[in-house]
Amino acid sequence: MSKLFEATTINGMKLSNRFVRSATWEGMADADGNCTPELKDLYVQLAKGGVGLIITGVAYVRQDGMVAPRQLGLSDDKCIPIFEDMTDAIHQHGGRIAVQLVHAGILSNPKVTGLTPLILSKVEGYAGSEGREMTVDDIQEIIEAHGQAARRAKDAGFDAVQIHGAHGFLINQFLSPAFNKRTDEYGGLIENRTKAAIEIIERVRSYVGDDYPVLFKLNSEDVIDGGLVVEDSLQAALLIQEAGIDAIELSGGTVVTGDHARKDINTEEKEAYWRKAARRFKEILNVPLMLVGGIRSLPLAEKLYDEGYADYFSMSRPFIREAGLINRWASGDLRKATCLSDNLCRGPLMEGGGIYCVVEERQKEKI
Ligand SMILES: Cc1cc2nc3c(=O)[nH]c(=O)nc-3n(C[C@H](O)[C@H](O)[C@H](O)COP(=O)(O)O)c2cc1C
Repeated sequence: MSKLFEATTINGMKLSNRFVRSATWEGMADADGNCTPELKDLYVQLAKGGVGLIITGVAYVRQDGMVAPRQLGLSDDKCIPIFEDMTDAIHQHGGRIAVQLVHAGILSNPKVTGLTPLILSKVEGYAGSEGREMTVDDIQEIIEAHGQAARRAKDAGFDAVQIHGAHGFLINQFLSPAFNKRTDEYGGLIENRTKAAIEIIERVRSYVGDDYPVLFKLNSEDVIDGGLVVEDSLQAALLIQEAGIDAIELSGGTVVTGDHARKDINTEEKEAYWRKAARRFKEILNVPLMLVGGIRSLPLAEKLYDEGYADYFSMSRPFIREAGLINRWASGDLRKATCLSDNLCRGPLMEGGGIYCVVEERQKEKI
């Protein structure tokens, strides 16, 4: 049996294999950000399909930080029993589920929230560009909102939380010189730009305690002009590790350019497209590294594991097409994921429906 199917533990969270469903905005929450029966069913299918750790789509910690319609939210204690029902169902199927916490900052969508976005600095060209620049008090309130959301997540039975520090959202905006032009203690050198991330980790920890898994999704690089570069991200990763994170999921790119979810992954070279950076992060980190981005083949994941690129392998789009991919591989059917990486699954999302793979539907249309 492949080493990737061995059981592991992350700060007390037992995982049955090294495969992670990377956070994926499902567009299936209700108007209050709560889990609906259709979303619960999607997570149950992933648990039944053998995914070791499911990470939910972005869940806003406060309503003004929403980015998309029908997004999950953890901004009110009323959500706790509703999420508890869902996490119970996952546990009954032997699954593990973490929730991804986010504030979108300049990517907050006033059309969705009806509220003025809070931004780090004036930068043109984003949904929230007309927003208000945050004071240090605003930053402190957002840090607290992350802590409160993590408390709700733990109370609701989530096995872990993941702090979203990637893809252009607020924590990534702090880290990124393209978004962070601040001259106070939260701007300037990478040590300062990492300060908000560290304070969020510490606040989350103060609510959930030491023996609860807290994960972090980090950009290796932003791949935008003037954005976060690998050298700075390596330094941020060390500081984040020191602040007490239990695992880092390494990604890159932003939703602004779409580079976080590259298209046309049709050769092994194109797979695992942040692997070169992952090698460098693995060399300096002690906490487990989860690698995401274009992973489609079991043999490649095994090779990357054996050669010390990553400890866990995260996928998003492949599970939209095949919730049972991990059990398929475990059963010996080693064909690569059938996902076409064409991103057409975004279509139904943008129209307000929940996410699903449109490939079969389009093939029927052609006949
Ligand atoms: C439709 C869609 C929704 C996504 N939603 C999220 C999200 O909520 N949070 C996040 O961190 N990444 C999100 N991503 C990015 C994925 O987690 C992942 O990093 C990226 O798609 C690359 O992995 P893949 O090649 O396995 O799809 C999303 C990607 C897609 C295509």
